[in-house]
Order: sequence, then structure tokens, then C-alpha cells
Amino acid sequence: MKISIIGSGYVGLVTGACLARADQNVTCLDIDEKKIQDLESGKIPIYEPGLEDLIKEKVENNLLSFSSNIDQTIKNADAIFIAVGTPTNIENDGADLSQVFACAEAIGKNIKSNTVVILKSTVPVGTCDKVEEIINLVNPSIDFDVVSNPEFLREGSAIFDFENPDRIIVGTKNKNSISTLNSIYKKHLDNNFPIIFTTRRSSELIKYASNSMLAMRIIFINEIADLCEKVGADVEDIALGIGLDKRIGPDFLNAGPGFGGSCFPKDARALVESGENYNAPQNLLKAVIDGNEKRKESLSKKIISITKDKKNIGVLGVTYKANTDDMREAPSLSIIPDLIDKGFNISIYDPQANKVGIKEFENVNWENDIYSVVKNSDCLVILTEWNEFKSMDLKKISDIMNKPIIIDFRNLFSLDEMEKLKIEYHSIGREAVNFNKETK
Ligand code: NAD
Ligand code: UGA
Repeated sequence: MKISIIGSGYVGLVTGACLARADQNVTCLDIDEKKIQDLESGKIPIYEPGLEDLIKEKVENNLLSFSSNIDQTIKNADAIFIAVGTPTNIENDGADLSQVFACAEAIGKNIKSNTVVILKSTVPVGTCDKVEEIINLVNPSIDFDVVSNPEFLREGSAIFDFENPDRIIVGTKNKNSISTLNSIYKKHLDNNFPIIFTTRRSSELIKYASNSMLAMRIIFINEIADLCEKVGADVEDIALGIGLDKRIGPDFLNAGPGFGGSCFPKDARALVESGENYNAPQNLLKAVIDGNEKRKESLSKKIISITKDKKNIGVLGVTYKANTDDMREAPSLSIIPDLIDKGFNISIYDPQANKVGIKEFENVNWENDIYSVVKNSDCLVILTEWNEFKSMDLKKISDIMNKPIIIDFRNLFSLDEMEKLKIEYHSIGREAVNFNKETK
């Protein structure tokens, strides 16, 4: 079977590389010619652990190729994935579907009969219907089916997630499409990963409901963390205590600086907008979005109240989480400009974000390692949870900084460790470790 994937971003490239490893014949397409040229010359446009090696191997095996000639490639495809972006439409906070609809047009013009079009982008309920309408309008005589197949991978562990999914969701009632999807995911089925066939609309909504449920858990534990700080409780113990209840489970209970990334914020907004459109208000989710925005403001205030007259702040990590170079809706994008506005000098180290991040902030000092940041700082602020930060030499940091202060929004260290090293330490939902100036 020949598979084309339109959109060679985080999802398209990972899907393409992983399906090629499952012995499918895949061409990844993109409108961005430079991206395709880079991919053809072995340059991977994103940081995703393991992806570069996997792509290289599958290109060498002739199972994976790249092209910006979308029209020509689609003509030969038996299955076409759409994996383009669905960012927020700034006019109504819903999903901007222009990239998806542009793909539908291109598909309509070039599709051969009996091709299955698989919508992997995250899209509001009813989008598959609209894609079908567009293709029909452009090419009324062709036989095809549009299937919903949302993706649940996380950046940073995308290859593992794609190859070991909790479930594969497929929205179609068409027998030929069911057989095509079973064949595309044969390796997954051989390994007993569950595949759920449902309607297109249910499939589309499962994706938004999953992301929104996870976003809700994060805001819930963040608000519990705020309460912990006020009453002297420990959010780590709370997460452990509630997470051991099998009905709740332990995942997605890490308190932090709020959720970011290319999906939770935009998908939560889009589900709220769908709720408005269909007169089924998503009130809980509205509160989640609001809570997430307010959190970023409150964390800037927390930093300012701790640092007081000290003006040099070192920031470790600016992406929305560890193990990615993705800056989309990262908490740093509001926290850092806020601190700059208040007159702080900012030094930054991030293991991956320098190249993209440098465009995001003005008047900051980028460093190449943790300890160069420490040298310039009165206070260190940790925004992401890279292993490199977890294993940094705290003794060395304590020696470099005159009166060390660490504000850790990812709870990477134990309070005992900080007490022993006499580092002033403020984390999330836990007691602060604080010393009088004389005690250091
Ligand atoms: P991305 O921005 O990284 O990549 C999208 C790619 O599509 C870009 O390279 C862009 O140039 C290309 N493109 C846009 N219009 C095109 C067109 N008309 N023809 C060909 N190519 C075109 O996006 P992403 O992060 O991979 O997300 C894609 C979709 O998958 C979104 O709907 C997102 O919500 C969903 N999703 C993303 C993730 C994730 O972790 N990033 C996980 C699950 C689902
Ligand atoms: C998320 C979902 O986990 C994926 O299933 C989904 O496919 C994807 O969105 C998507 O639709 O794009 P991702 O955005 O890569 O994946 O990252 P997550 O690991 O889920 O983290 C999202 C945000 O929540 C990050 O800002 C992270 O720091 C934060 N988070 C996560 C917490 O604050 N606490 C947690 O316990 C977990």
C-alpha cells in the first residue's frame, strides 16, 4: 500500500517514520519546500528523540521519502493522511481549519478512486464531513472515504507513544476503510494494542475530550498546590495519596507552571467554542483555560516577591516542557517578558530551544550551559524538567552563587537536599526552604 502524509511536522514525520518501520511505503509531504529539501538532505526540522536516526534508516531502506510535489504524490496514494496544523482561529478561539481544507482541495483535484483519506489533525466535530464535502465538490465522480484517526502522541516521547499507544481510535463505518486501517496498523494489532472503531464524530470528539480531561487534571493539581502552600501541606504527597486510588491513577498530577504546548491550550479553546456552537457549554473547561492563564501571571508575581531587590535572574528551560524544542504557548513566553518589563536582567539556558527561542525574547542573554547562567544570577528559576537540570551539581551552584536562591516550578529536588546545602528553595505546593542571610 502506498501512503502519503500531508504535513511533515511533529505528527506527520513521526507517523511517517513509524509506519515505515512497520514496513509501510510512506511519502511525507509538505508545502514548505525548504523543510522538504532539508529532510531530503538528512536534516530534521524538529528535535524529537530518536527521530533523526529512524528517518535516516527508513530512507536508506527505501520505505520513506519526502516530496513537496503534493499533487503528483497524491495521485498514486492508496491512503492519504492529513497531519497539518489546526491552530487557534484568533477571531473566535475555535480551530483554524484553513490548512485542512487546503489539503481537501488538493486531494479532490488529484485523488484516484478507492483512496482512503485519514484525518489525523485534531479537528472539531463535523470536520470530516466538511472535508468529504470539499472533495466531492471538486471531484464529484470519485469513490473515496474520509476517516477520522486522531493522534495521541506526546512530544519528547513521540516515537514510543506512536508505537505503543494506549488505543488507536478510528472513526468510520465504511468496511473498506476498516480493512485499510487494519492493514495500516497491522503491526499494532499483532502486538495487541487496542483499536476502537467508532463514528467519525465520536472519534473527533474523543481527541478533544482526552486533551481537555488531561488539562483539567493539571489545573486541578495546580490549584491544590496553591492551597498546600497556604496550609503547610505537600502537593507531592497529595498527588501520591490520590493517585494510588485506581479510579484516579497517578499520571498527570505533577503540579507546575501551567500547561502549554501546541495542543492543550488550543484544543481546550476549540472545545469550548464547539460547546458554544452547539449550545452545550463547556463550563468546567472555561474555568480550566482561565486558571491556566492566571497561573502564569501569579508565577511572575511569585518570582518578583522572592527576588525583591535582586535583579539578575537565570532561567533554566524555556520550552513548554522537557525533551522538546517546541516553544508554542510555553509559560516562559509570558513569564520572561513580564520580568523584563519589571526591570530584571534575564540569562537563559535551554538544552534545545536556543535556535527557536532566540527569536521569542528580546534583551536576554543566552548561555550555553547551566553554570554560565548561574554565574550571572542572583536567583535561578527552573521552568522545565530536563534530566540535565535534575542532575545538576547543586553543590557547585551553591558555591558559585553568593546567597543561592532557586525557584523551581517543576519540583525537581527534595527539600532535605536543599536544607543540607543551605540553598533557599521555593517550589510548587511545598514548604519553602528559607534561611536568614546570616545562616549561609
Ligand atoms: P506542525 O505545525 O509541526 O506541522 C504541520 C505541517 O503542515 C507544517 O510543516 C506545515 O508546513 C504543513 N502544512 C500546512 N499546510 C499545508 C498544506 N496545505 N499542504 C502541505 N503541508 C502543509 O503541526 P503538528 O504539531 O505536527 O500538528 C499537526 C496536527 O496534529 C494538529 O492538528 C495538532 O493538534 C495535532 N497533534 C499534534 C501533536 C503534537 O504533539 N504536536 C500530537 C497530537 C496531535
Ligand atoms: C499532549 C497529550 O499528552 C498527548 O496525548 C496529545 O497527543 C498532545 O497533547 C496533542 O494533542 O498535541 P504534549 O503537549 O506533547 O501532549 O505534552 P504533555 O506531556 O501532555 O504536556 C502538556 C503540558 O502539560 C506541558 O506544558 C506539561 O508541562 C504540562 N503537564 C503535564 C503538567 O504541568 N503536569 C503534568 O502532570 C503533565
